[in-house]
Amino acid sequence: MTLGLTPALLLAAIFLCRSILGLNYAPDLPEDARLNFTGLATKYGLPCEEHDVTTEDGYILKLFHIPGNKTRPVLLMHGIIDSADTLMIRGNTSMVMALSTAGYDVWVGNKRGNRYSRKHRTLDPDIDKQFWDFSFHEIALYDLPATIDHILNNTGQPSLSAIGHSQGNTIFYVLGSMRPEYNDKIKILIALAPVCYLHHLKPPSRHVVEAWPFVDELLSLAGTEEVFGEQTLEIHILKTVCTQKGSYEICAKRFLLALAGMDPEELEPEFLPVVMSHYPSGTSRKGGTHLLQQGLKKSFAQMDYGVEKNLVVYNSVSPPSYDLGKVTMRAALIAAANDGMSALADVKLLRARLPNVVEYQVLERSRCNHLDYVWGRRMAKYLLPHVFSLLERFGG
Ligand SMILES: *[C@@H]1O[C@H](CO)[C@@H](O)[C@H](O)[C@H]1NC(C)=O
Ligand SMILES: *[C@@H]1O[C@H](CO)[C@@H](O)[C@H](O)[C@H]1NC(C)=O
Ligand SMILES: *[C@@H]1O[C@H](CO)[C@@H](O)[C@H](O)[C@H]1NC(C)=O
Ligand SMILES: *[C@@H]1O[C@H](CO)[C@@H](O)[C@H](O)[C@H]1NC(C)=O
Repeated sequence: MTLGLTPALLLAAIFLCRSILGLNYAPDLPEDARLNFTGLATKYGLPCEEHDVTTEDGYILKLFHIPGNKTRPVLLMHGIIDSADTLMIRGNTSMVMALSTAGYDVWVGNKRGNRYSRKHRTLDPDIDKQFWDFSFHEIALYDLPATIDHILNNTGQPSLSAIGHSQGNTIFYVLGSMRPEYNDKIKILIALAPVCYLHHLKPPSRHVVEAWPFVDELLSLAGTEEVFGEQTLEIHILKTVCTQKGSYEICAKRFLLALAGMDPEELEPEFLPVVMSHYPSGTSRKGGTHLLQQGLKKSFAQMDYGVEKNLVVYNSVSPPSYDLGKVTMRAALIAAANDGMSALADVKLLRARLPNVVEYQVLERSRCNHLDYVWGRRMAKYLLPHVFSLLERFGG
């Protein structure tokens, strides 16, 4: 009763605010806030194809392709609650533009559950809870192999280069450990803001980890399996508020930058409405739980369901750890000192445990945060030279 009433009251409040204050999500947004990936690519002069990739377990994923030299395919993977858009919203100064201009064959993936991959052969994401029964584990086990094989088949190449931002690189460690035959299909993994261990998170990110079990319990009671989905009321409110003029202080400084690391120079106020129109994108509640367990339990392991279910699923009281020793693909770790979500101490742990780290870089610009890798205004200065040097050395 109360759970149903609250959203209704909020909705009423929003409509009231809108009519009184003239708040509105659509009219004076910049054009880039309204365009999807294909629209953005086209606007900035890139030819863009939309591919559908079906996973072994039936999810239908959207994969974007900006054709280039077929001998040099590069796969880009976004982080949690994000989508391919994140790599294109900077338009002329985006990573996708830079790679395409340099002649690479650019592929930009979308994980199951986000705005482009909310689709399944038999399950309906609006009705079937089973659709949302996944975390980064299934994304690594099914989405990545299907995406990689689709690209290799299309280009006729035996292997590709990969660039993963945040959880977009976590999934490669899981893939390399659980399906080791895929190590040979990756020429190099360029890990931007490496995320694996979350042992050394500082507040406020630390507080998110600690508060999650409580939030998770509430969501579970309310029967909510999808989080950050665009059609949900909370996200509609968030996007409405954070695309208004004057919302920078709250939405950027108190929220995004507080979590990611304070670096307002790289995220100017005029760009915020573009960001907040594309981000966040939906994922599963289970995805949040599994990720944050790594911080709570100081592990890098499969989902912990509690002793009883662990015994059924794993035949063991605790979930198995991912064996990083099996991740034999070449990995380059690019970290930032001011990253509020990927602590240098955790990246160092990862570096010590991965067997084939070919490069470890901390960006020279000390204010770089978790988001500058994808949204940074001047990434061409402090980031792209590293990416290109790695691709030239290892990516063929
Ligand atoms: C992107 O937007 C265009 C124009 O609205 C639409 O035709 C296209 O289907 C959209 N693509 C995706 C993947 O949503
Ligand atoms: C494509 O890249 C390869 C190197 O990987 C190069 O030898 C070839 O000349 C390139 N082809 C074109 C058309 O640029
Ligand atoms: C992007 O850059 C190109 C080349 O500098 C320029 O011609 C074009 O107008 C720019 N596009 C947009 C939409 O700003
Ligand atoms: C590879 O591509 C061919 C057509 O180009 C298609 O018939 C085949 O099913 C594809 N295989 C995979 C594994 O996607």
